[in-house]
Amino acid sequence: MATPIIIDCDPGHDDVFAIWLAAAHPAIQLLAITTVAGNGRIEHTTFNARVACTVAGIQGVPIARGADGPIAGALRPADWIHGANALGGPELPEPTVPLDERDAVTLMADLLSDSPVPVTLVPTGPLTNIAHLVQAHPELLGKIERVVWMGGSTTRGNVTPYAEFNAYTDPEAIAIVLDSGVDFTMVGLNISHQALITREVRDRVRAVGTRTAAFGHELLEFFCSTYEVAEQMPDGPLHDPITVALIADPAVATTVRTRIDVELTGTETRGATSTDLIDILKRPANATVAMDLDVDRFWSMIVDAVAALD
Ligand code: RIB
Ligand code: CA
Repeated sequence: MATPIIIDCDPGHDDVFAIWLAAAHPAIQLLAITTVAGNGRIEHTTFNARVACTVAGIQGVPIARGADGPIAGALRPADWIHGANALGGPELPEPTVPLDERDAVTLMADLLSDSPVPVTLVPTGPLTNIAHLVQAHPELLGKIERVVWMGGSTTRGNVTPYAEFNAYTDPEAIAIVLDSGVDFTMVGLNISHQALITREVRDRVRAVGTRTAAFGHELLEFFCSTYEVAEQMPDGPLHDPITVALIADPAVATTVRTRIDVELTGTETRGATSTDLIDILKRPANATVAMDLDVDRFWSMIVDAVAALD
């Protein structure tokens, strides 16, 4: 039986590939897409989620708009990576898929309530919507199978020396979700920087030869160009789809059970995901952390997903 999931995202180049993998992989049932401000303002990330579905011919998956900013602090869109509209590179078509009239939390709550089995939540942006959901609907915690989040890092950050972008944008949301006791998996920079978009990968995507492939290739070229400037990484890391890949095919990455605490007040370290991999603090484990990626297996999943779409 396919695993039912909801993707909560801030498209965002890599978020698009997470949506495409979820829609295409037979082991995944994509129930809905919700959007959050992060890589871009909420109007951009929501428009871009609809574009991702329009290009790939993904229909019948409700898309709902979520939070326009973090629980505390100010939103700082990652335009140095994703561009001013959060999906720089290709010309964006007018979406042909509708926007659900519900907001993200309402849609997620309705789907959790109606689902005959617990649902896996896959946030690939700041955790703002997930935090709002667990606060507003504690009665639905039992319907959340687990949360598999792209964010954080067991090593260094990418928006400050210690904080990864999704974590930095809304660290209070991380604390709320961790404190809820939900089964939590972190897919951080430590593993996502193993998913490097090499020239060979870009050529494999383009060689699929479809509309989705051509659009995806333009996204990858733009994303790699900004990563080269911003982080001296000409082969940018395709962070977000590792979450979906791990759910669809657990053998794609190794994981460990450990303890994560988030820094909320550090002058230089706010948003850091303190991951106690060697149990120094003797605190109870509260998370599963993805560590080593089977890179070839991962890229085959991505190319196969692109080939399965329009
Ligand atoms: O730090 C990488 C994460 O931040 C990815 O989810 C990317 O899409 C941005 O949201
Ligand atoms: Ca993202």
